Order: sequence, then C-alpha cells, then structure tokens
Amino acid sequence: MKADIVTIFPDFFRGPLDHGITRRAAEMGLVKVDVHDLREFTHDKHRTVDDRPFGGGEGMVLKPEPIFECLEPLALASRERRLTSEKTPGSAKESVILLSPQGERFTQKMAAKLAGLDRLVLICGRYEGVDERVADFLADREISIGDYVLSGGELAAAVIIEAVTRLLPGAVGNEASTRQESFTAQEGGEFIENASTCGSGGLLDYPHYTRPAEFRGMAVPSVLINGDHQEIRRWRRAQALEKTLRNRPDLLEGAALNEDDKKLLLQIKDSRLSS
Ligand code: ADE
Repeated sequence: MKADIVTIFPDFFRGPLDHGITRRAAEMGLVKVDVHDLREFTHDKHRTVDDRPFGGGEGMVLKPEPIFECLEPLALASRERRLTSEKTPGSAKESVILLSPQGERFTQKMAAKLAGLDRLVLICGRYEGVDERVADFLADREISIGDYVLSGGELAAAVIIEAVTRLLPGAVGNEASTRQESFTAQEGGEFIENASTCGSGGLLDYPHYTRPAEFRGMAVPSVLINGDHQEIRRWRRAQALEKTLRNRPDLLEGAALNEDDKKLLLQIKDSRLSS
C-alpha cells in the first residue's frame, strides 16, 4: 500500500511512523508513506496556508489552492473514477480522505476496508477548518477518529495509518492476534472480517496477565494458573461479558451471544444489583 499524508506539520510524523508496526511494515515493503508539506505548495513569501473565513467568524481556514496543488502530482485517478472504482473489479483502488471532526466515525470495519486499497491520501485539516471545496470536490470522504476536537488531523492520520497497517497481511508478527479479531468480531449484527477491536464475538477483550503470579500483593486469578483450559475459556468469556457490560454496554446489542452467555450476563447483572 502507498499512503500520502498532506500536512502543515510534516515533522509530526517522524515519531509515530518510525516505531513499531508501521516502521516494520515499511521496512518489509508492505507500506510506503510519503509526507507532504503543504507549505511547499504556496506561492507567496510567507508561505501562507490559511486565511480568514468569508462571512466572518472566529479563526482561520485552510486555503484550497495548496491542497489541490499538492495532490495534482500524485497522479491519482479522478475523483469520479475513485468513487466508482469501489464497484469496478480490477481497477486501482484509491481513496482521498479529509480528516476532520465533521467526518464519519472511524471504526475497525473502516480500517479493514481501507486495508484493501492500493493507495490512501490523508489530508490533515487544521485550525478552525478547511475550505469546504476540499471536502466537496477533492476528497472522497471525510473521517473523524472520535467525537472530540483535536487541533488538527495529524494525530487522526497517524491513528488511521497504524490501524490500517496492522491489518496488511504479514504486518503483525503474531498473526493469531489479528486472526482472533478477524473471525470472531461482528458489527451492526453481521459478521465481517477484521471488524472489531474485540476479543471474541463482538465483545471487549478479556483481561490478560503475565509473570509474576503475585506482585505487591496483587495475585493473578488462580483459574489462569491451574491449567484447566476449559475453565480458563469459561472464565475469559465471563470476564469479557462483564467488562463489555461495564465499559461498552452498547456493544452487547450486536454481539454474538449464545445461551450460556445470556445466562452469564443475567447472573452478572443480578450480582451487580445485589452488591
Ligand atoms: N481534526 C480535529 N479533530 C479531529 C477528529 N476528531 N478526527 C479527525 N480529524 C480531526
């Protein structure tokens, strides 16, 4: 996969992309990320990338010209072709994404879709906004990484690159960990590959422990040490259910729950009520 990041802070990406999975994937040739400095596409002495908003109001808006000019040498398919290529087998799969708090919410399902593309272009918004012509005529979609406002799209771009890269075949050393996510997760009630951050069946992951078995008086649950694998599986499932109920009850609606899970959930709810 080839990824291009358009930003006014190119140095920001020195850290996030030069460590861990993204670095390893780049070294293995699975992904190539180019970072483009928007200021190189300005034509004035001050290398101006922003201006005041038409109609008045607070803050500055990123100007459209440098962004359009930055994308031109990338030789992408036209926006129209990009948008239709999703449905045309065999055609180059590219996506131009504007990062902004006004975008669709980024999910693991989206990461899995993006991981199937040949090319990603991530435009980092800044300041109070980006001239809307970028969203309307240049970007194929607008993505937000969550319901909070960052001062720019740089962190969001790094998040997307990391989430997508680790889904590229061969990128994650321990394939079993992505396989577990891949085949058991579901979203919106329907099973999909690479759909979730969840440990199993659309639930949050169960807790993990390692040595020492006792640390400063905090003991690892004894069930994990006894070696009864059926017991361990049952315990992990119960813990995943309990954690999901506590932290993300919304996920339970789309989760694949069997009769035992439903009974367990009722027990957890009852014990909560009585405690
Ligand atoms: N830019 C500012 N906030 C953002 C967010 N939540 N997601 C993506 N880009 C952003």
